[in-house]
Amino acid sequence: RIAGPCSLVMFGVTGDLARKKLMPAIYDLANRGLLPPGFSLVGFARREWEDQDFAKIVHDSVRAHARTEFREEVWRSLAEGFRFVPGSFDDPEAFELLARTVRELDEQRGSGGNHAFYLSIPPAWFGPVCDQLQASGLSDPHPGTWRRVVVEKPFGHDLESAQELNTIVEKVFPADSVFRIDHYLGKETVQNLLALRFANQLFEPVWNSHYVDHVQITMAEDIGIGGRAGYYDEVGAARDVIQNHLLQLLALTAMEPPIAFTPRAVQAEKVKVLASVRLPEDLSTGTARGRYVAGWQGDEKVPGYLEEDGVDPGSRTETYAAVKLSVHTRRWAGVPFYLRAGKRLGKRVTEIAVMLKRAPHLPFTDTATEELGQNAIVIRIQPDEGVTLRFGSKVPGTQMEVRDVTMDFGYGASFTESSPEAYERLILDVLLGEPPLFPRHEEVELSWRILDPIIESWSRSRSVPEDYPAGTWGPPSADELLARDGRAWRLP
Ligand code: BG6
Repeated sequence: RIAGPCSLVMFGVTGDLARKKLMPAIYDLANRGLLPPGFSLVGFARREWEDQDFAKIVHDSVRAHARTEFREEVWRSLAEGFRFVPGSFDDPEAFELLARTVRELDEQRGSGGNHAFYLSIPPAWFGPVCDQLQASGLSDPHPGTWRRVVVEKPFGHDLESAQELNTIVEKVFPADSVFRIDHYLGKETVQNLLALRFANQLFEPVWNSHYVDHVQITMAEDIGIGGRAGYYDEVGAARDVIQNHLLQLLALTAMEPPIAFTPRAVQAEKVKVLASVRLPEDLSTGTARGRYVAGWQGDEKVPGYLEEDGVDPGSRTETYAAVKLSVHTRRWAGVPFYLRAGKRLGKRVTEIAVMLKRAPHLPFTDTATEELGQNAIVIRIQPDEGVTLRFGSKVPGTQMEVRDVTMDFGYGASFTESSPEAYERLILDVLLGEPPLFPRHEEVELSWRILDPIIESWSRSRSVPEDYPAGTWGPPSADELLARDGRAWRLP
């Protein structure tokens, strides 16, 4: 579907995210013909730029990062709608100028009085920007038009700060107009999880504690922290990705079928899951955290976390976190959900592995049953998107030997259509006003309720995270976490 007439105001256009993801995604949408004619993009930042300077920045970022082919005519028509407003985030005059610019665009380019405001800025600025949007009248829609605000994570650093941020934003914009981006929800395979579960008859009957032994959710990255020490050292793996991406994956894996694929229905089911998550009784054995030390990533020697530029030498920030959670519902009683995330691990892979119980009885006398693994349904979020089923099969030969094999569905082999980048889909959904994939404030707050006690217990213990060499699969305590339950992490 094509978005209706509108303009998008972007705060934080000089940031990494805007350059690498947001501006290229806007071009890709234009290239696919999904933006309305007359779409306008207004950049707002503390720079003495003219419109052309802004256009040049967007151009460079599109050439470097867009996923679709560069077409001069698409670019030229998109760039006609670019404007730049210089100013700081708390300067009333700059917001007056912004309001005039946006009104002019409505008249000149027919944006229809519909405006989205994208806050790709540190959360400390959400308050001042929302206040200025209100004071300048920009947040108030005229009858028949809309205003939407898009906020990027982190949504706070604990429950209290998340609640404050939600209050600040929702004081100015009604809850239905607030779009919180969790870019994992824009990923093709994450959405396919819902299709896999609810468009088929095959999986749902076994998707419960009668058949599932446990679930493993892995987000492994091979990269380190790049140039993001300033952000990451304050945050760590648990806040950076477990609070949002991994708990959202857990919610989608564990939720009951929504009555419709509408924002309210999907969010209501996710909220129920997050509200029923329980932590292990003993957080010191039910969680693990680690920090990479120098090691090898393939044939590249990489430095340890403490040697990265900008990291505090006395830092206790974890670059790996694992936790065992349970979901207290009838469907999931007694089924542990193990979550792990880390930087500088063996390879980049995100997957959800639903591990089934072993067959209750094997009639084959000469089968080496202990060799036989568990059936597994593995949803590969990235890279190499697809789904794998693992099951036992007879090995060719005269004996009844059974061995694990896999049945694979790969996007590349099954579809010719290419998937849009997560940000492309999410920005389009903002412009279309379709929010089923955006977490509501209840979800954000419930996720912090899960995470806060874990982080508090780590900081109370005053211990430093356990070392793991870059290029390996995390600290020994993460393996012990599963070994204690007689289980082991999958090697993706
Ligand atoms: C971000 C985290 O949310 O997700 C980063 O802040 C992480 O630390 C990134 O690298 C991973 O995203 P993706 O899409 O590459 O898996």
